[in-house]
Amino acid sequence: MKYAEITGWGKCIPPATLTNEDLATFVDTSDEWITSRTGIKARRISHVNTAELAALAAKRALATAGIDPEEVDLIAVATSCPDTLIPNTSSKVQQILGAHNAAAFDLNSACTGFLYALQNATAQVRMGAIKKAIVIGAERMSWFVNWSRRETCVLFGDGAGAVVIEATDKPVGLLEAKLGCDSQARDILEVRGFGTDMDRYENPPTALDINFIGQDIFKRAVKAMGAGATHVTEKANLSIDDIDLLVPHQANLRIIAALQKQFKLADENVMVNIDKYGNTSAATIPIALCEAVEQGRVKPDANIMTAAFGAGLTWGAGYIKWGERVTPIAKCDDELPANDKTAKELLSTAIDYCLSKQNSEQ
Ligand code: ACO
Repeated sequence: MKYAEITGWGKCIPPATLTNEDLATFVDTSDEWITSRTGIKARRISHVNTAELAALAAKRALATAGIDPEEVDLIAVATSCPDTLIPNTSSKVQQILGAHNAAAFDLNSACTGFLYALQNATAQVRMGAIKKAIVIGAERMSWFVNWSRRETCVLFGDGAGAVVIEATDKPVGLLEAKLGCDSQARDILEVRGFGTDMDRYENPPTALDINFIGQDIFKRAVKAMGAGATHVTEKANLSIDDIDLLVPHQANLRIIAALQKQFKLADENVMVNIDKYGNTSAATIPIALCEAVEQGRVKPDANIMTAAFGAGLTWGAGYIKWGERVTPIAKCDDELPANDKTAKELLSTAIDYCLSKQNSEQ
């Protein structure tokens, strides 16, 4: 039986930072509220589209794996923020990378998307259909944000993370996963009317905003992530003490803390970076995983638990056995195109539009 080792890791964090203080200049909020209720201090606003974020994270992951783009059999992009619906974002990533031999698909399972994509690509490697894949989580959530709504606009950020997986005989990689969907509650987190649901001719939507019922999602997130992680732990015959690092979806520090408490994990066993990037949806786990390796928090043979929750309401958990190598084979020096604007300058049209629409509706 083949396994699918994670041999490469990379991330792309756009440079423009929107702080809580920046937000408080145009919506009725405060650093104190955002920090205490969510753990978020700042988030990034991208000056490029989702495919460019995804491609740079993938280039960096390919470099750390030491493989050429032509060797890649599959590119899976988990995103809810495609540049275009047709064609898909992964085909653009293939074009940028020059990964001409790769199949390319997008996967939309919102914040759980990376786990869904990793499970799918891993299964393809393990059944022998492919040998090498890039799995990416990439989002430009700022595009969907209504900047006049303090309940939602403080939460999200942009970014991308990627891993390379390769066939191996060693029992490493994603060894167990449990994925699910709580569709009874699918309406509590949505971007209404985007897709064939929209009335394209008579009543086209003027707002494509993220709407959600935060407290309900919060409770469901804690329950489903906990249940998923428990299931995976049991199936993998792990005890809590065996878990070296929890890499959870970063939606709210209090959700992460609840999971940490349930699993009785010490702070050093939980990867948290929501303070810097906010909720980047499908990108949170690969960004956090990449950062954990870069910070030396992933040791050879580490047992890593992941758990996520998102629109759908999709949920999932996974157990990753890391391999021997925790250092990159090579480094990619590519960067995003230069950006000389602040986050607020990048968002100025969107902020003005949202605030004037809100004023006209009052
Ligand atoms: N600044 C100041 N006050 C605010 C803000 C803000 N940014 N947002 C809301 N408030 C106010 C509310 O108006 C309310 O005021 P009131 O008491 O006078 O009515 C008060 O703060 C409390 O609001 P709650 O919604 O009860 O606050 P809560 O503690 O539940 O936190 C939050 C809200 C952060 C959204 C939380 O419920 C949450 O994180 N939910 C789950 C995460 C989520 O929904 N993420 C969406 C993406 S999906 C995913 O990634 C899982």
